[in-house]
This record gives sequence, C-alpha cells and structure tokens, in this order.
Amino acid sequence: MQEKPTKVQKLKTKPTILKLGGSVVTRKEKPLTPNLRAIKRLTNEISKANISPLVLVHGGGSFGHPLAEQYGIKEGYKDSSQIMGFSKTHQAMTKLNKLIVDSLINHNIPAVGVQPSSCIVTKAGRIQSMDEKPLKRMLEMGFVPVLYGDAVPDAKLGFTVLSGDQLVSALATKLNAQRIIVGVDVDGLFDADPKIKKTAKKLSHLSLGELKQLQGNVGKSTACDVTGGMFGKIAELLPALEKGISVTIVNATKPGRIYKALKGESIEGTLIEKE
Ligand SMILES: Nc1ncnc2c1ncn2[C@@H]1O[C@H](COP(=O)(O)OP(=O)(O)OP(=O)(O)O)[C@@H](O)[C@H]1O
Ligand SMILES: [Mg+2]
Repeated sequence: MQEKPTKVQKLKTKPTILKLGGSVVTRKEKPLTPNLRAIKRLTNEISKANISPLVLVHGGGSFGHPLAEQYGIKEGYKDSSQIMGFSKTHQAMTKLNKLIVDSLINHNIPAVGVQPSSCIVTKAGRIQSMDEKPLKRMLEMGFVPVLYGDAVPDAKLGFTVLSGDQLVSALATKLNAQRIIVGVDVDGLFDADPKIKKTAKKLSHLSLGELKQLQGNVGKSTACDVTGGMFGKIAELLPALEKGISVTIVNATKPGRIYKALKGESIEGTLIEKE
C-alpha cells in the first residue's frame, strides 16, 4: 500500500531550525545562571521576525554542562550516584526551557516546550529513535516547538547527553528543513578560536568541502561544554549540510542579528552551504 504523504510535506514553506546557544541564553561561566536580558531580547527578535514554520532548540550553557560534567552523564552509567545526577541535569534543563518558553509566550509566540528525554533514545550517544510525529503535527498547527540539549536514555550506555547541536541536525533532516541558524557568542566561524587567538579570521562563506578541510583548526570551548564546543557543533552539522540544508552561524549576543538571519537579510556571520 502506498504511504500517505505526511502533512508536513504539505506545509507551504520548509521549516527553519534555530539554535540559541547556551553561550547566549545563559551566563556560561556562572553555574545555573540564565541571561534573562538576552532571552527577552531574542524572543522579541523572534516575535518581530514572525517566521513560520519554526523549531527552536536551545543549548545547555551553565544549566546543563556543569551538572552533566559533575556526574559524568555523557559517559553513561557507571555507578548509582549518577542516577540523581541524571535527574538533576534534566531538571536544570527543564528550568531553562521554561524560562525561554515563558518569554516566547510573553511575546505572543505559541511556543511549546518539548522534552527530548521523553521522545528520543540514543545508542552510544547517537540518536537511535526519535518520535517526530508530535513535532510535525505541532508545526502544521502553527506551534513553535522548543527543544534543548538534554540528558537522555541510551540503549547502550544507560543514559548520556544529547547535544542541542546533534538534535538540530537530526531535526533538520527529519523535518525536511530549509535552513539552520545557529546563534553563538562569537561573530561566526573563524579559522581558529577567536577567544584564544585574537588574530583569528572570520570565514564569511564556506562550502561543505572547505568546512571539512578546516575542521582540524576548530576548537572546543573556553567554557564548560561536555559536547565539544564549536568543534562538536561543526561535526554534528555535517549530515544536515550533506543533505543540502544551509547553516548560518551568527552572533546572537549582538542585537538584531538573529532577527536579520531569520528574515534572510545579509548579516555578519558565516554561511555554510553544500556547494
Ligand atoms: N574556530 C572557531 N570559530 C568560532 N568559535 C570557536 C572556534 N573554535 C572554538 N570556538 C569557541 O566555540 C564557542 C561556542 O561554542 P559553545 O559550545 O561554547 O557554545 P554553545 O554551543 O552556544 O553553548 P551550548 O553548548 O551550551 O549550547 C565560542 O565561544 C568560541 O570560543
Ligand atoms: Mg556547545
């Protein structure tokens, strides 16, 4: 029997996936500290841009990473002390998610928080199964799902950390996204970590091939980041780029950049495309 086309394919526009980095929505150097000003400004920019369909993903920043590191969540189950650690890491992420969803709703965006740990299982750290049906239906109805990097059940390890970056890439592929916009705390992708090397040059436009050549020069993070900082981010985005989904990396700490990126206006940042 021929399968019915899913309704998401009938959406007039392909979805945009926007990642708000934990480096932007939290104070990454201070455990469990949100950047409420940035959250308010960004949700205002998202509201003004009025893009649909839109899926939001936010990172862990100082809510997820320090607890995940303290309890060794990414490495999987080793002893019973980690069980409370998993709960605490996940709970910290739900608190950050609530702050962001509250702010979106205050700006009249029909945001719905979606817990990755309830609809995704990984196997040795890679997404093995993901129930995207609720997300597709939400998009058809005009909702804005808001997911995040999370502590998730893992078929091999017991549990692990699913990065917001892996999630962004998987969502983009599964939901047949048009583009990915990644907001971070630096002006884009550089030929070296700009926080370490002051003379690092920003790369404005890259092909997938050029990105692969550059990979060895990309650093992790100067802050606590259990999922590999910029290096991990780039590695995760490769599968989406292979599928022809473009990636724009912008500085979301600078007012107006996320608004412009959503509107498709030219901005200072890095655009990566397959060809
Ligand atoms: N070549 C590079 N170009 C740009 N940034 C780089 C590079 N190498 C390393 N970085 C670092 O990557 C950091 C951004 O990644 P990081 O994982 O810390 O943030 P994030 O993904 O927004 O946070 P989270 O993982 O909590 O969502 C920047 O602050 C920068 O210092
Ligand atoms: Mg990161």
